[in-house]
Amino acid sequence: MKKLLRVLQGEAITPPPVWLMRQAGRYLPEYRALRQQANGFLDLCYNPQLACEITLQPVRRFGFDAAILFSDILVVPHALGVDVRFEEGKGPLLAPLAPEDTAYFTQKARENISLERLSASFETIHAVKKQLASNTSLIGFCGAPWTVATYMIAGHGTVDQAPARAFLYRYPHEMQLLLDLLADVSADYLIGQIEAGADVVQIFDSWAGVLDEPSFATCAIAPVRRMVARIRLRFPHTPIIAFARGAGLFYQTYASQTGVNALGLDWAVPLSFAACLQEQCPVQGNLDPLRLVAGGKALSQSVQAILQALEKKPFIFNLGHGILPQTPLSHVEQLLDLIRDR
Ligand code: CP3
Repeated sequence: MKKLLRVLQGEAITPPPVWLMRQAGRYLPEYRALRQQANGFLDLCYNPQLACEITLQPVRRFGFDAAILFSDILVVPHALGVDVRFEEGKGPLLAPLAPEDTAYFTQKARENISLERLSASFETIHAVKKQLASNTSLIGFCGAPWTVATYMIAGHGTVDQAPARAFLYRYPHEMQLLLDLLADVSADYLIGQIEAGADVVQIFDSWAGVLDEPSFATCAIAPVRRMVARIRLRFPHTPIIAFARGAGLFYQTYASQTGVNALGLDWAVPLSFAACLQEQCPVQGNLDPLRLVAGGKALSQSVQAILQALEKKPFIFNLGHGILPQTPLSHVEQLLDLIRDR
């Protein structure tokens, strides 16, 4: 069986399987070359032939244990009819959702739901599956409802998601309508990805860490629990990884209450705490992406500490957040040597 799947079933493997969040992207010259040929980033996401090629690029170059579908979390609001753009150097821009429009928007979206616009991802998965080595896992993904909602409400990235938090406190009912819609559509999207051939799915809740205790329960835990239930009805055995960045002291409750199979950990999680979490479920993480940029001792010491603390229990090596565009290719090679050649 594939290494990643064995770990997700509770086996400890030395050396552990490794892949990197955002492993397909701008740090790769072959990605930058394809990116220039396309009309824009979303065009790449919706072109199964190019998206398949980009998905495979990092696996070919580095021999990672998993490929992750090349797409973005914002294709879900785009499929719901929201105007979504990616402007060079600016990050995503969306038409912001006003509280007074939310009831109408969510009702219309439910009436008109069609996964048509998302079918490019299913085609990409089919194409990748044909070319992927039998020991390499294919990961499907989507954003968690809260993280996707933060972009829909602000209309752009922010440092603390203040617009979404203010929306939540002033309009809890509207927030609930939005999270429920996103949970259902995102779960169906992941079901489609599993049908197409994804071995594992990961839910990215990159903004879970800005929530206080009651909000974490309603906005981070409840919608993901709803998604897990919906996916399990159809695919009870497909492993689900959740990356709830910044969940801190909530990680344990998060794992037990959402029922996900494994936790992706950010780099602020102490290794002793990560080892405790492994009593509950497999964990994935958590090298600071800037250590990979720095290289040298900053890289090797942290990699060794992570391996020593976590590889005796079910563990997947990864970064604590996405790889940065300025990461030198030689440092990624060094990282793999540090993990595999001991
Ligand atoms: O991991 C992979 O290789 C698969 C592809 C992937 C992308 N985005 C491609 C991408 C995945 C899994 C994502 C997830 C994603 N997208 C998240 C959650 C994870 C995280 O990093 O927090 C979020 C919040 C987004 C939304 C998003 N997409 C932002 C904020 C940005 C702009 C920031 C940036 O890095 O430029 C994007 C753009 C994006 N998504 C790029 C890529 C390769 C860069 C686009 C380009 O080529 O210009």
